[in-house]
Amino acid sequence: MLRQLVYISSVKGPAAAIDPEAILQASRRNNARAGVTGLLYYDGRRFLQALEGEAEAVERVYRHIAADPRHHALVILSDRTVDAREFGDWAMGYATKGEDKARLVARIAGMAATASPEIRATFESFAGLKRLF
Ligand SMILES: Cc1cc2nc3c(=O)[nH]c(=O)nc-3n(C[C@H](O)[C@H](O)[C@H](O)COP(=O)(O)O)c2cc1C
Repeated sequence: MLRQLVYISSVKGPAAAIDPEAILQASRRNNARAGVTGLLYYDGRRFLQALEGEAEAVERVYRHIAADPRHHALVILSDRTVDAREFGDWAMGYATKGEDKARLVARIAGMAATASPEIRATFESFAGLKRLF
């Protein structure tokens, strides 16, 4: 049994100070070591992240992330056990400046494709993708 945690949070301070690539790099490094996978979506204002792995590892990673001063007002949207990983590989989607909307839509949809309908819906609605499907 694995734990799957999904939370939403808001950027604290100027969004310009956020370097998604740096967060991605630290996440890849630390999460791989902890056996935690998931998906992080960033729209320039808010984060939506799914974390999956062994329960204690997810707890450790989440506590670490929750203490990060770059975001605040974390709200857990879903916390459940899953039989298998729904986000197979660690991946991250964020809207880069000027990125073609259609490309972003395809990217997020692809990353959430293997998630349960509820979780997929959460990501799709967050990303404002639904009206585009
Ligand atoms: C929205 C958000 C999501 C993050 N997600 C992760 C994550 O999944 N794994 C992780 O190790 N760090 C994540 N971080 C970064 C951590 O808070 C912390 O900066 C990082 O783990 C420090 O890594 P280091 O000690 O190896 O430099 C996230 C930060 C933010 C703002």
